[in-house]
Amino acid sequence: MSNWYQNSFFKTQFVTVFNILTVSGETFVAESMELALSEPLDPATKKLVEKFVREEHSHSHATHGFNKKFCGDDWRAHLFHRICSSFISLCEPLVSTNIKLSMVAASEFWTANAASIVLDHQLIQNMNEPAAKQLFEWHCKEEIAHSRLPLLVMDEMKINPLERFIGFLLSSLTEFWMIALGCILLVLTSPQIFNPKTWYDGFTFFFTDEKILFRTMTTMSKHFERQLLWGKT
Ligand SMILES: [Fe+2]
Ligand SMILES: [Fe+2]
Repeated sequence: MSNWYQNSFFKTQFVTVFNILTVSGETFVAESMELALSEPLDPATKKLVEKFVREEHSHSHATHGFNKKFCGDDWRAHLFHRICSSFISLCEPLVSTNIKLSMVAASEFWTANAASIVLDHQLIQNMNEPAAKQLFEWHCKEEIAHSRLPLLVMDEMKINPLERFIGFLLSSLTEFWMIALGCILLVLTSPQIFNPKTWYDGFTFFFTDEKILFRTMTTMSKHFERQLLWGKT
């Protein structure tokens, strides 16, 4: 695999974890939002939902194509993709439509955060592969533009605060353990773990250059809406 993020193994792999999770995650988001189309929503909202579903499916397909090209036959990447898609398809039938839509709203909150960090701090400039720049710029812009739609859908469907909270918790916990697992598989099991540059790049990515930890915390307040947990009153 080429190190298309600043020629750094760690940074490329960390972003690849998100790319792999995007493929199954966005399919879940699109299919869950499709369920809202059979609910009594405002016709204007339904049109927006249809557009949202098309966008998420196309993000998933485009990212899958990108991963196939840039991950090649890396068994770690394939295994992680398999785990993500199997876990989501196993758990998906166990939750109600309302919980799924609450999970979508939470997932959109997190993706809007990530998209803001990428765009506001021009992290696309750190990608030395034109296909990556193009993919991230397009995806991030659409994520920010449609991130509030699931909140409107939850309000129109009168999803209660308990369901919203359960959805938020399930979505956030699932995303965090999958990201952690992805990092273990793609970074910790690689021989590159013995290269000091891998550790140095990890430090600069989280604390000094991209400042991912600090920026995640400060960006959260920009996208958090009380409707995510309480609904419009
Ligand atoms: Fe997306
Ligand atoms: Fe989205």
